Amino acid sequence: MSIKTIILLGAPGAGKGTIAEGIRSASRFLHVSTGDMLREAVKCGTPVGRQAEAFMKRGELVPDAVILGIVEERLDKGGADDAYMFDGFPRTMDQARLLDEILGGRKAVVNKVFLLDAPRALLIARLTGRRVCRKCGQSYHVINIPPKVAGACDLCGGELYQRADDSEATILNRLDVYTKQTETLIAFYEKKGVLVRVDSARPRQETVAEILRGAGALAAS
Ligand code: AP5
Repeated sequence: MSIKTIILLGAPGAGKGTIAEGIRSASRFLHVSTGDMLREAVKCGTPVGRQAEAFMKRGELVPDAVILGIVEERLDKGGADDAYMFDGFPRTMDQARLLDEILGGRKAVVNKVFLLDAPRALLIARLTGRRVCRKCGQSYHVINIPPKVAGACDLCGGELYQRADDSEATILNRLDVYTKQTETLIAFYEKKGVLVRVDSARPRQETVAEILRGAGALAAS
């Protein structure tokens, strides 16, 4: 009995959050998104939120110590045989090494890393068109995945808004930050033999199905 871990790795707009939602609802994986946790902390004005806010607004990475703190706290709350799906974490080599240490302390490892791959122009189009529900967090796209009623969430009727870091200038900075600080993780996990490349330019159901097949027994409840 040990923790199981998969990671969704990919540039901003690759579809990590969208795909994670599809996987979560069809498997035993618990979705852990550091971006969602940070946005919630900013909204609630917690000490973590106050430390993170300015970095997020600029599209830069929040310091590793803050991120590792919230991830470890999340794992401490979980059970010994939980299955985790990390979205947006790790994002630096230090985060990846420290994740290995945290999991090692629980006699676990990173089981698989799914690299969501999509061309840059598509990433930009996805991010500029993204709208998110203020109430329940459900994500839409004005063209690809529109709500039934413009500006309102299909699930709860909440108001849809554009994320503060989804302006074109901040999107370009986030893509640069990914290239400089996160892309190096691809080789790191490839060397460990756990990296699986997935084309995420396709309809989301196809990507979800491929990852569920790739996760195999890890996903079974
Ligand atoms: P985070 O929230 O993780 O943002 P991100 O990595 O920039 O990724 P996104 O959420 O923008 O994109 P996504 O890949 O989830 O795409 P989505 O599914 O929404 O991080 C935000 C910030 O927090 C960071 O900049 C940083 O400051 C901080 N942070 C977070 N984690 C950190 C860490 N570990 N270390 C340091 N700092 C950290 O899809 C995008 C759009 O496309 C949506 O509109 C969606 O509807 C649409 N779409 C998706 N898939 C499809 C599809 N297949 N077909 C059609 N449309 C699609």
